[in-house]
Amino acid sequence: MAVNAASREGPLTEPSIAKRTEEHLVPEGSRALDTHRLADIEAPYTPTHNEVARQRFVSALRKHVLIDKAVEMRAAYDASAMATYTKSHGHPPRDHWDIKDAMRTSGAYRVYSALRLNAQEMTWQSVMDPVERGLPAMIEIATDAAHLNPAGGSLRIDPQFQPPGYVADVDVHHIPGSFTAELTQDDVAIGAVAAHGTRVFSGGLPHRKDNPGAVAESVAHYLKLAYPDFKPRRILDCGTGIGKNLAPYRDVYPDAECYGIDVGAPGLRYGHALFEHQGIPLHLSQQNAERTDFPDGYFDLIVSSFFFHEMPVASTKLILKENRRLLAPGGRIVHMELPPNAEVDSYAAFVIDWDNDNNYEPDYADYRNQVPTALCAEAGFAPATCWQRFIPNWRTFGAEPFARFVKGDCAAPAYGNGSWFVFGAQK
Ligand SMILES: C[S@@+](CC[C@H](N)C(=O)[O-])C[C@H]1O[C@@H](n2cnc3c(N)ncnc32)[C@H](O)[C@@H]1O
Repeated sequence: MAVNAASREGPLTEPSIAKRTEEHLVPEGSRALDTHRLADIEAPYTPTHNEVARQRFVSALRKHVLIDKAVEMRAAYDASAMATYTKSHGHPPRDHWDIKDAMRTSGAYRVYSALRLNAQEMTWQSVMDPVERGLPAMIEIATDAAHLNPAGGSLRIDPQFQPPGYVADVDVHHIPGSFTAELTQDDVAIGAVAAHGTRVFSGGLPHRKDNPGAVAESVAHYLKLAYPDFKPRRILDCGTGIGKNLAPYRDVYPDAECYGIDVGAPGLRYGHALFEHQGIPLHLSQQNAERTDFPDGYFDLIVSSFFFHEMPVASTKLILKENRRLLAPGGRIVHMELPPNAEVDSYAAFVIDWDNDNNYEPDYADYRNQVPTALCAEAGFAPATCWQRFIPNWRTFGAEPFARFVKGDCAAPAYGNGSWFVFGAQK
């Protein structure tokens, strides 16, 4: 295994490197980090005034749906849908599946769903034109980054890699081409669409707005406070995307080597260039987390965020087993995910499962119906080491209240109000 090896993307010819170097290396002295002389892959993304206005509209529409329309939908359930269901079934809705049946024909649910679905599609559409205009320059910057690695990270792309169907055959989240489509040589387009689109997606949400690595930041601070003697030397993020929920571990564990794997090459190329430019060394490689090429016991900490709900439960089980193989003795896994049904009330479970039926995430409900600690135990972790809980979002909750939360002196905010559901285990 060559975890620090140069990119597998194949050598460029010398003149080609020289040309790119001339165009894309920033002139000496033009930025504080002059050792990181790679151009910023975000610079070629220049939305026009109208495009920015459209993006803001989409963020505001999402906020309107997720807050105002959600309130109206709940009012419709309480005022009529529940009673109608009770009358026709002889009992009130007993769980979130019954609530879904009760709401299927509700006008409020249909309006909520139609608006939310359109906002979801428009999220990615609203960034695609500026991504397309900037694409040739972004590809050149990413290619430079793969060869220069000025921050000391690395990128491995496997030209023979076959992404699993559950990612490649579905436009997950309505992202055209999902996370894996490559339409041109060394393509980064989907990575750029996901990176910029997620800003639009989260633009109206106070706990995620302007903080793309909020999950990693929160989990890393939690670990540091909860386990002060735990000092991971190597960290692996499964399904890292562009690495935005991997990079913040460097702030909390500056000596750790950070690795990220994903099945989508465009996101890895984009993220590698992004963080090399920022001086953050990440070792990114294209791999299926179900079976990786890292040796046994290579990592002290394995994490993920927004990951397991997008795959069949059988794959989740394989990945947790592979996590265990990859952990050194005493090592920990900590995965952030959607809260399972058992952790929220039935109405909340019905709302959370919206994505299963409407957002091209067909395994979502099945995943949420699992018990994460039981999945960890089934993967071979000692049950006594398996845990699951909500933790506050570190930045919005505040460092001092967060420390009190870890000591057990206060509770995490309710789900949806600035908390993350996480589960973990120790080897
Ligand atoms: C919703 S995204 C989350 C990305 C990132 N963790 C974040 O917090 O933004 C899920 C990611 O998991 C990747 N993925 C899905 N199945 C995978 C697998 N079996 N192995 C590695 N990556 C996978 C997808 O390509 C996608 O980039």
